[in-house]
Amino acid sequence: MIAYFNGTFLEKEEIHISPDDRGFLFADGLYEVIRSYQGKLFRTQDHIERLNYGAAHLKLNQTDFSMFEDISKELLQRNNLTSDSATIYIQVTRGAARRTHSFPNPISDLTLYAFASVFDAAGALKKQEKGIHAITVPDTRWARCDMKTTALTPNILANQLAVENKASEAIFIRDGVMLEGTHSNFMAVFDDVLVTAPRSNYILGGITRKVVLELCSKEGIRVEERPIFEKDIHLASEMMIVGTTVEITPIVKMNHTVFKNGKPGPVTQALQAGVNREIERC
Ligand code: PDD
Repeated sequence: MIAYFNGTFLEKEEIHISPDDRGFLFADGLYEVIRSYQGKLFRTQDHIERLNYGAAHLKLNQTDFSMFEDISKELLQRNNLTSDSATIYIQVTRGAARRTHSFPNPISDLTLYAFASVFDAAGALKKQEKGIHAITVPDTRWARCDMKTTALTPNILANQLAVENKASEAIFIRDGVMLEGTHSNFMAVFDDVLVTAPRSNYILGGITRKVVLELCSKEGIRVEERPIFEKDIHLASEMMIVGTTVEITPIVKMNHTVFKNGKPGPVTQALQAGVNREIERC
C-alpha cells in the first residue's frame, strides 16, 4: 500500500515515525476520515476546513491543509481505489521533539501522514438497512470535543463496552444529555421534528451532521438543535447515528430496550435517500 508521509508517497512499510513524535508521546495531533465513492471524494473541503480549525486551536505552526485534497486523490489513484468504496485517513501531529509538555522550542516540523483503504460498504449498508444496537455511557471526555484530536481513549473504552454488549455504538451522556457517539453524531425524531445536540465544545461538528441539516432545510424536514435528555428518549419515534463511516444508520435497540419494533423509521429512510442523492452528485 502506498501512503503519504511528510511530502512523499511511499510504501506504508517504509514509513518510520520517531518514538519522540508528539503524536505517540502525547496524542498531540489531529485526524480526519474522508469517504470516497468510486473515486469521488465526499465533502473534502469541509473535512479540510475542520482540520484547519483544529490546527488553529491546537496552535500548530501550519493551519492550512488544503494540499490534502490532491494528496487524497493521488492516494486513491496510486492504490487503484478509484472504482471502490474507500476511506482516506489523514493525521497531523506537532512532530518529533525532546519531550516537554509545552510546545517544542525550537518549533518542530509537523508530522503529516495519510493513507487510503478499502471500505466495507456492504457491511455498512447492512447496518443501515437493519439498524444497530447502541448503549449509553457517561461522557468522560475532555471539554474540547469540537477538535478532532487523536486522543480517543474514552471513545475506545466506550466503543469496546458497546462491542462487549453486542452493540455497535455507545452514546455519550453528559449532565443527562445524549450528545454523540464514539465515532458518530446522534439524532432523534420527536413529533416529526429531527432533534440533535447543538454545536458546542462538547460534540464534534460532524460533516454528515451538516449534510443532514442542509438536506432537512431543502426538503422541509423540521429540525431543532437542542439538547436531547436521556430521560425523554422514550418519547422519540426514531433514533439514528450519522457519520462518514456510518452514513445514516438507525438505532433499533438502546441499552436493553428494543425500539419501535426494531425497524428503521420514515425520517431515517428519507435522510438515507437524501444523503445518497448528495453522494451521487459529488
Ligand atoms: N469519526 N463524532 C465523533 C466523536 C466522531 O469521531 C465522528 C467521526 C463524528 C461524525 O463526523 P463526520 O460526519 O464528520 O464523520 C461525530 C470518524 C469517522 C472516525 O473517528 O473514524
